[in-house]
Amino acid sequence: MTEKIACLLPENVKPVKYHLWLAPNLKTFTFEGVLSIDIEIKEPTNTITLHADDLVVKGYAELTQENLHLWGGVSYDKERQIIILSYKDALLPGLATLKLNFTGQINDQLYGFYRSKYNLPNGEERYIATTQCEAIDARRIFPCWDEPASKAVIEVVVRIPKELVAISNMPIVKEDLLSGDLSLLKEVAFAPTPPMSTYLFAMMVGEFEWVEAHTNSGILVRVCTTPGKKDLGNFALDQAVKTLEFYTEYFGVPYPLPKLDLVAIPDFAAGAMENWGADTFRETTLLIDPRNSSAAAEERVVEVVDHELAHQWHGNLVTMRWWDSLWLNEGFASWMELIACKRIHPDWKPEDRFIAEDFLSALNADALKSSRPVQVTINNPHEINESFDAIAYSKGASMIRMLENFLGPEVFRRGLGRYMRNHAYSNTDPRDLWDSLELESIKPVRAMMDTWLRQTGYPVIHVKREHKNGQMKLELSQERFLYEKNFETSENSLWNIPVGITTETNNTRAFLLLDTKKTEVDTSLFPVVPNQSEWIKLNAAHTGFFRVNYEPEELLKFRPVVMGHKLPVADRIELCDDAYALTRAGHYSADLLLDFFSGYKNEMELPVWQVLLSRMNGIRLLISHEPYVKLFESFVRDLTRPIAKSVGWVEAVHEGHQLKILRGMVLRTLGEAGEKEIIEEAQKRFEAFLKDHDSLNPNLRGAVYGIVASVGDETTYEAICDLYKKEILQEEQLRLLGALTDFQNPDLLAKTLKFFIGGEVRSQDVYLVLRSIATNPAGRDLTWQFVKENWETFRMMYEDGKLLGRVIEAVCKPLASFADVADVRSFFETHPVPDAKRTIEQSLESIRINAKWLERDRSVFASWLTGPKS
Ligand code: BES
Ligand code: ZN
Repeated sequence: MTEKIACLLPENVKPVKYHLWLAPNLKTFTFEGVLSIDIEIKEPTNTITLHADDLVVKGYAELTQENLHLWGGVSYDKERQIIILSYKDALLPGLATLKLNFTGQINDQLYGFYRSKYNLPNGEERYIATTQCEAIDARRIFPCWDEPASKAVIEVVVRIPKELVAISNMPIVKEDLLSGDLSLLKEVAFAPTPPMSTYLFAMMVGEFEWVEAHTNSGILVRVCTTPGKKDLGNFALDQAVKTLEFYTEYFGVPYPLPKLDLVAIPDFAAGAMENWGADTFRETTLLIDPRNSSAAAEERVVEVVDHELAHQWHGNLVTMRWWDSLWLNEGFASWMELIACKRIHPDWKPEDRFIAEDFLSALNADALKSSRPVQVTINNPHEINESFDAIAYSKGASMIRMLENFLGPEVFRRGLGRYMRNHAYSNTDPRDLWDSLELESIKPVRAMMDTWLRQTGYPVIHVKREHKNGQMKLELSQERFLYEKNFETSENSLWNIPVGITTETNNTRAFLLLDTKKTEVDTSLFPVVPNQSEWIKLNAAHTGFFRVNYEPEELLKFRPVVMGHKLPVADRIELCDDAYALTRAGHYSADLLLDFFSGYKNEMELPVWQVLLSRMNGIRLLISHEPYVKLFESFVRDLTRPIAKSVGWVEAVHEGHQLKILRGMVLRTLGEAGEKEIIEEAQKRFEAFLKDHDSLNPNLRGAVYGIVASVGDETTYEAICDLYKKEILQEEQLRLLGALTDFQNPDLLAKTLKFFIGGEVRSQDVYLVLRSIATNPAGRDLTWQFVKENWETFRMMYEDGKLLGRVIEAVCKPLASFADVADVRSFFETHPVPDAKRTIEQSLESIRINAKWLERDRSVFASWLTGPKS
């Protein structure tokens, strides 16, 4: 499969070991490097091609082969991010050593070798130098074969100021103080790594401090921070030790390195990065302040730590051969989060959270015709960056979960262990995984999985039910689910769908495999054949990756069941999301949806509210410029009042984890929908908070700030802005920034937007908060205008990279008119972003879907909202 890829390096030379010497300078933000690479020449050649970008190679490339010294000229191909070393005489097959001297920049772009700013507890400004190599930026640190399949040993030495700490993939083996002119410096040498892919290389230099512990098998685990923050690492340290022990047991393969560092970096593009033995994190995904962190922040830390630790096996020890199989890395790590959390925090009900988050975000992303198959062809480097999306992560994880359910957890675990052992320190394709699982399970894994991984999208099952003369006829048919129907393509996708069915009187699941377009269900599957008034539910427990289209009267049979909590949480989530998606796609009319949603008013569970409120927000944004939007807010209030009353404002001493999160969520919704009593209480609590920060529980802070802002004036605005500027905990900073996006006054929102790009907000956070201002009805159009007007600033901020795609997505997807479609299209025609080609397509499609939905249901919403409610 790899031959087809035009951007791959030639295979005539392979690296065996990199001896890398680096001297970063934190004053000039430059670095010097000396590199000697042991290589294997596979066939006679006059040239060696390897990756390098933004590096200047000094002099010649010296090649030593036995007693021969050859000097190669260096030429650059900036577009392909490579250098070509040319030798007069042909190099002969065999081992050789290649030497290169080079210099580079410690940039401020969050990729490659970059700098991150922080303040000492006394306010002094400082920098650390740190690396982010994935996907293709190791080439900006040292010339290398920057492809996942080119595994080689890396042995690194850094020269740094004496008082600083260096952290890399392996433990330090030696520190030498230098003398003479260099007496302020030292050289730190690290142990050689096992053979590894370059995208996992790590080097951090700064004033780190840490907390540490050992696992039961003696692995040293440290959580490292900038000065003054190490105690905030204790929560993650405890989690990391437990997870590392659990994964070792689960895979039956020991953690391959002698130590693992988890390092908090103040400026960080993604959430975290799984560099082998030296994971890096945003502060918000690693640090927990017991006095100021929320339960949701704890959950995020657990999720991210478990994810990056899973990569130490899935990804680092066994690596996808090429980026077209990225889902093997990211899908697996996302699924392992769930497995670890089920073991370590079962009371957090991780399975339901998984459904509400990963599973549904995958169903949502994959309902676009501009989606892509999980296993995707990569034609150029831009497409690599863009493939880190909901399809790789969430659809990948959902596919794996479906397969685990199909094979059974123990067989699946054994199959994975076999796969790990067979492919340790090397690279794989999905077929290697299927082989291991088939050997273990004796089931046709490949045949089943291919339909899901190679086809774009997923099915909706239409259910037709008829009762005649005491007999039931139940017919199922499948077609690809799309939000935007009727587009011209030969849509003949077909999936092998394991369908679980429960009915009102049969609560054990009946199973059938739907592998044709249409089938009639054999009613003898059911011990008791349901009568006409009873409900029949497909996809029970929600493991199958599909939606279900019931006829309206069938859907409404679930309403009382949902109200009476007679269905499991997973099913209540699914019904809510399917109803929304099917309405958005035009299968249902909006009045059916609102009727159905109103049945959730007795709901008590966090993951159900999480989904329901997010879909309600979707509607609110869609109709935000309609004259009846206030009536919708009143509907939101009616729906959330009972749960808000039941959870109240006060957290009990040993309250459950989910309830802590739920309280903030529902109070915020009710308050922001204009409930007077809630607003007054939030204002009272905010005033008290300004005098005494400890008076406000961290689980309530987001809600209180948000509500106060949603009715706030200039004075409130300044108060929140001020709090932000004084704050040092990034989690709290983000809550405050979020509140700045919740104001209703357009002048204040315009001020917020300017503030975001004025230098006081870290670029890592800007794209996150743009998402929340763009989903504030008062901020949506304003934000798109602002981004267009300041495009150059955003482009510079993210250097045309993939975070620019995040900006585009955040700002464009909420738009909802045909005029917006035209505007966005023409803007990106004149301002192309190669790293976001698909993202732009998907944003355009989303806007069009919104516009069509609004057009279709505009008056239906109006009449439902003005009419009588049940
Ligand atoms: N490998 C990624 C980080 C990454 C993403 C690097 C994109 C380069 C490009 C890491 O393992 C990851 O997936 N992090 C997630 C967090 C996770 C809990 C889903 C992230 O950054 O959001
Ligand atoms: Zn990952």
